[in-house]
Amino acid sequence: MGVIFLSILIFFLSLLWYISLKRDKKAAIRDGTKLPPGSLGWPYIGETLQLYSQHPDFFFAAKQKRYGEIFKTHILGCPCVMLASPEAARFVLVTQAHLFKPTYPKSKELLIGPSALFFHQGDYHCRLRKLVQNSLSLDSIRTLVPDIDSVAASALDSWATSEVINTFHEMKKISFEVGILTIFGHLEAAYKDDLKKNYSILDAGYNSFPTNIPGTPYKKALSARKRLSKILGDIIHERGERRLREKDLLGSLLNSIDDECEVKISDSQIADNIIGVLFAAQDTTASVMTWIVKYLHDQPKLLQSLKAEQEEILKLNSENNQGLNWVQTRNMPITYKMVLESLRMASIISYTFREAVADVEYKGYLIPKGWKVMPLFRNIHHSPEYFPDPHNFDPSRFEVAPKPYTFMPFGSGVHACPGNELAKLEILIMIHHLVTKFRWELVGSQNGVQHSPFPVPFQGLPARFWKIAH
Ligand code: HEM
Repeated sequence: MGVIFLSILIFFLSLLWYISLKRDKKAAIRDGTKLPPGSLGWPYIGETLQLYSQHPDFFFAAKQKRYGEIFKTHILGCPCVMLASPEAARFVLVTQAHLFKPTYPKSKELLIGPSALFFHQGDYHCRLRKLVQNSLSLDSIRTLVPDIDSVAASALDSWATSEVINTFHEMKKISFEVGILTIFGHLEAAYKDDLKKNYSILDAGYNSFPTNIPGTPYKKALSARKRLSKILGDIIHERGERRLREKDLLGSLLNSIDDECEVKISDSQIADNIIGVLFAAQDTTASVMTWIVKYLHDQPKLLQSLKAEQEEILKLNSENNQGLNWVQTRNMPITYKMVLESLRMASIISYTFREAVADVEYKGYLIPKGWKVMPLFRNIHHSPEYFPDPHNFDPSRFEVAPKPYTFMPFGSGVHACPGNELAKLEILIMIHHLVTKFRWELVGSQNGVQHSPFPVPFQGLPARFWKIAH
């Protein structure tokens, strides 16, 4: 009985899939366009198995080699158009951004909170984005240097025990602390601990199978998300009158309530955006910092030149008995180029997703309404056309500015990363302490990559750190 029901179901699903494909093809013929080249694979499964059974880089590179810079595929139940050229990325993210909306699985939206800015387009997105950008502007983040400096210094000190540590997990602690600083300024330890505890449950369930069955990681994450709302409500309540003076992200979101020309931002919208920023800030920055530990380990000459640049700063600061300052962080040319090259090489946001809100024509091809569109950042970053000898780690390539839309580690256009300056600042400060005060060795396999979901060195890069005697 079950087998018959399953066969009928598969038959109808395949029929629906076939009809919708026919409709898209007809629309293309009607408009004198055609669907991009490529294969949609099996009904429903599409090419999901091919994508997940190999390194995603190989899947995309093989497709690009066969079909060129625009091709169609079908993954995770969605027909997709992949775009691997700077012009196409500009078309989707910048010039025709209004034709492509952000798209995330519902299960993930529920965990972060549906009002987080990156799920939105139009007026609401624009308003929220201004507030977030304001608290992440250069003027705002320069005041954070002493605090980020002490977060990085004490985190790295705690690694120097000769025990093996999971570098990625430790970097996540730093990026979480910096996220909290940016959002709340100085926050009471009890609140911070509560946020940390519940956020890590949410984080653990984020990539798990979405189900409401009690005890599963996803269900636990949903419950932690509810508790996070309550904690954030308490923090907002306690801010009271003080909110008018604070310049951090929470202050920026709360003060907007007082602007009578605009609709108020509710506490739940504030909570969704705070969780959204923490989420956008933590694994991304931690993953890049982990790659940097590996790249520096693998290239002793490069490490020496960064050391020389950073030791000069350290020497000056020791003589004057002062910590790292903003001007110094803006004047680290060797280290800065190394950070840019790490962002290119690691390309931790390999691609992003949008959905066409109407039938769109691009270079004679139809992108049907409802199809997903994926600008492939990593393919562009690793193309020999824009970055000669792309697999060679060479910071000097950044002595010349990359061509427009060839280097997009922070995306581009209306949804480009508002935290990019903060991320770079945090990374530079971490490197300052790492290379001037520590030596390290990697433990175990040193070449694998793990997707969590961002690419991270295998097993989080187990390593041992020792303090250097000065
Ligand atoms: C190295 C670290 C980081 C990388 C590589 C990175 C990368 C990106 C990228 C590629 C996007 C655009 C995604 C898209 O177009 O779909 C983005 C968006 C975003 N990022 Fe980052 N990010 C980093 C760190 C941060 C930090 C530290 C923060 C905040 C403190 C942050 C906050 C955000 C937010 C709020 C958005 C959504 C913007 C919008 O939709 O308008 N990111 N990030």
